[in-house]
Amino acid sequence: MKDDDGMVLRTVDLKKHFRASKGLNLSSRSKTQVVRAVDGVSLSIPAGKTVAVVGESGCGKTTLARTIALLTEPSGGEIYLDGQRIDGGRESHREVYRKLQMVFQDPDSSLDPQMKVGNSISQPLKGLTGMSDREVRKAAVESLEAVGMSEDYFDRLPRQLSGGQKQRVAVARAISTHPRLLILDEPTSALDASVQAQILRLLVDLQKKYSLSYMLITHNIAVAGYLSDMMAVMYAGNLVEYGPCSDVMSRPRHPYTITLINSAPVPDPWKRNLLSVNIKGEVPSAINPPSGCKFHPRCPYAQAVCSEVNPPLEEITPGRWVACHFVEKTA
Ligand SMILES: Nc1ncnc2c1ncn2[C@@H]1O[C@H](COP(=O)(O)OP(=O)(O)OP(=O)(O)O)[C@@H](O)[C@H]1O
Ligand code: SF4
Ligand SMILES: [Mg+2]
Repeated sequence: MKDDDGMVLRTVDLKKHFRASKGLNLSSRSKTQVVRAVDGVSLSIPAGKTVAVVGESGCGKTTLARTIALLTEPSGGEIYLDGQRIDGGRESHREVYRKLQMVFQDPDSSLDPQMKVGNSISQPLKGLTGMSDREVRKAAVESLEAVGMSEDYFDRLPRQLSGGQKQRVAVARAISTHPRLLILDEPTSALDASVQAQILRLLVDLQKKYSLSYMLITHNIAVAGYLSDMMAVMYAGNLVEYGPCSDVMSRPRHPYTITLINSAPVPDPWKRNLLSVNIKGEVPSAINPPSGCKFHPRCPYAQAVCSEVNPPLEEITPGRWVACHFVEKTA
């Protein structure tokens, strides 16, 4: 994953470490400890494709998304958008946000409750594009229509909308600048199952219509399977597996991915022929992660070297990447 060719986004050894706060209940001795939320992630997103990022709660998915979107300063590494390095103030934030937008899980927290739908969409559009008021209105209406809502909703407040409609407005706002990449952080997990399906179908349609690329963060393996071309599996701030979604789901190779896929409520065809590994132990602390391979205390294949040396993410077959010293055991 070293080449920008055909990639809308590429990160190189991206890190986001937080200083652990008192709120985390640390002893006085450990006040200066560091939360390694994202601990060296190299990830590429091909143009026009969807890459799902999956992993247990607290593994760093949202922090990775926020760091890529420059909502928080990276602690290390590099971020390239369309081949241009964007971290460290190299590109104006205005230019970055025109090309890269985020949709969050909860539209109630991403939409201002006092702001009418039309203004919610128009405001960033105006700030990022320098269009005239007339052009902004036209583009905002087009975005609303693209998500299946009419201009009639322009003057409504979020409280006058259903959960699904609010998320459509959040998507309309995100696509209004015709971005290259949308980062979707659990975009449907706050919605009822039927509404979730509608929003997923909408995302598929919008991707085709606008040639969008998606980074999709989800807990739901079935959602990842429905929407994604590629799957990136995150564990304790690192990527442990990356490859075509259908391959990773049907033949996971990292021991953690195997447990993750096996424990997921997915349709039978996807579960068949998977190795059965019982996951044990807790999600590791981001403050004091295990040495070597961070999965070693929970891994049924762990050997002495695993607690000493962190395995790099290596391409085991073309397009298929795994970080494990003993990947041959899961072949
Ligand atoms: N601002 C912050 N300050 C300190 N620690 C943080 C901060 N934001 C996140 N963390 C920590 O970083 C780690 C990763 O959190 P993050 O929210 O990225 O996980 P996640 O994979 O998105 O989890 P979930 O699936 O529950 O949304 C966690 O240990 C979290 O407590
Ligand atoms: S490196 Fe060792 S501990 Fe880590 S996943 Fe592979 S076998 Fe398990
Ligand atoms: Mg999250």
